[in-house]
Amino acid sequence: MSLRRQLFAIKSVKLLEEEMASENRLRRVLGPVALTSLGVGAIIGAGIFVLTGLAAHEHAGPALMLSFIIAGLGCAFAALCYAEFASMIPVAGSAYTYAYATLGELMAWIIGWDLILEYGMASSTVAHGWSKYFLHFIDLFGLHIPEYLTSDPFSTPGAWCNLPAAVIVLLVTGVLVVGIRESAGFNASMVILKLAVVLFVIVAGAAYIKPENWHPFMPFGLSGVASGAAYVFFAYIGFDSVSTHAEEARNPQRDVPIGIITSLVLCTLLYIAVAGVLTGMVPYKEIDINAPLAAAFVRYGLSAAVFFISLGAVAGITSVLLVLMLSQPRVFYAMARDGLLPYSFFGTVHPRFRTPHKATILTGSLVALVAALFPIHALAEMVNIGTLFAFVVVCAAVWIMRYTNPKQRRPFRCPWVPAVPLLGILFNFGLMLSLGRHNWARLIIWLAIGMVIYFSYSRHHSRLAQAAVAVKPSQRARRR
Ligand code: ALA
Repeated sequence: MSLRRQLFAIKSVKLLEEEMASENRLRRVLGPVALTSLGVGAIIGAGIFVLTGLAAHEHAGPALMLSFIIAGLGCAFAALCYAEFASMIPVAGSAYTYAYATLGELMAWIIGWDLILEYGMASSTVAHGWSKYFLHFIDLFGLHIPEYLTSDPFSTPGAWCNLPAAVIVLLVTGVLVVGIRESAGFNASMVILKLAVVLFVIVAGAAYIKPENWHPFMPFGLSGVASGAAYVFFAYIGFDSVSTHAEEARNPQRDVPIGIITSLVLCTLLYIAVAGVLTGMVPYKEIDINAPLAAAFVRYGLSAAVFFISLGAVAGITSVLLVLMLSQPRVFYAMARDGLLPYSFFGTVHPRFRTPHKATILTGSLVALVAALFPIHALAEMVNIGTLFAFVVVCAAVWIMRYTNPKQRRPFRCPWVPAVPLLGILFNFGLMLSLGRHNWARLIIWLAIGMVIYFSYSRHHSRLAQAAVAVKPSQRARRR
């Protein structure tokens, strides 16, 4: 196969369906409630519990509510596109698989490589956030861990590592290796707890709102609202992970779109309410940037609430970590199945647990290492740009596929095409532009490393390319 043909080679939906029918080794155990729960589990976490503070304090002020609406809209347009793809191509791999079916092998590789960055960096960031809340929680009982074991050596001279962050990552990895059913059950109980805490913050906090705190409403102007949106975008990351579980869904055509859209709508409403309550309770300049929700209640002498909020934050952030780390090995798995990564490692499914255990353990080890040793703030910034990039590609791919494959059955159709995909591209690309130049530089370096791997390994092992060569006798003769 010529290089040009290979780079744009498309994996047909029929082939994807055949692969799914023949392999189908992951268990189909997830229904609409479990999928929505996985979505909420991935979405509500460090973003709402931690980032809202800095976003209100330094970017948007009380207009943080608008920032959440803008970021939520960008995600909603992308979610409708994700839902169409997930119903049409219900196999593991999410945006990677969608790109393979529409834009060709090279773009699929780029997106897969980008998703590895997104899930890996997001998991490390979230583990760091978890350790902050965990320390806050045990502090309520007078327990302390020495500082040299709770910080990374780059941001705190003399520190060894962030031990709690590494330990939680390794514990979650153990749960994930044991199995998807167990993981979904564990996630569901965490989700209930954190929803209870978020609702508690909204209902209990509403009584302490002082409308004068909402004036001035937009202290940093519209640009502050936009940069706030790009920052709190992190809080929405994760809804796309529902689509990576399409292969484990009992009725993917119906349940994956339900899972994606329900979880996103629910979280958007909760975020807007939390932002309103927080900025109503505390003047934006006085909002705590480490534990904003707990600190708002301390301000009113409601110390008992702090216990409940900290507990919910620890549980909530754990379930985010769980879903993010559940998704990454499934992207590896899909890429390995196509030959773009070594199948003997990334494609192996545990004979008893039926989980991609080797990829899960590799993911867990790398995430633990990064979370323990590196200053997370710089790495975290890469998460948003990588995710926005994936959203832009998915929106474009839905649009393209309506022309290249119009007859394909679409149990869920994204409404108002091309308006919705186009708005998705504009919103998400606009948010990418409002992230600094250094983020773009890091993304480009990461993608360049990916290119080296693609041209030195993946291109030569691609199953699609090998299959194309196999059907051409003249070429086969040449190969001999
Ligand atoms: N949306 C996830 C969080 O806020 C990544 O933690």
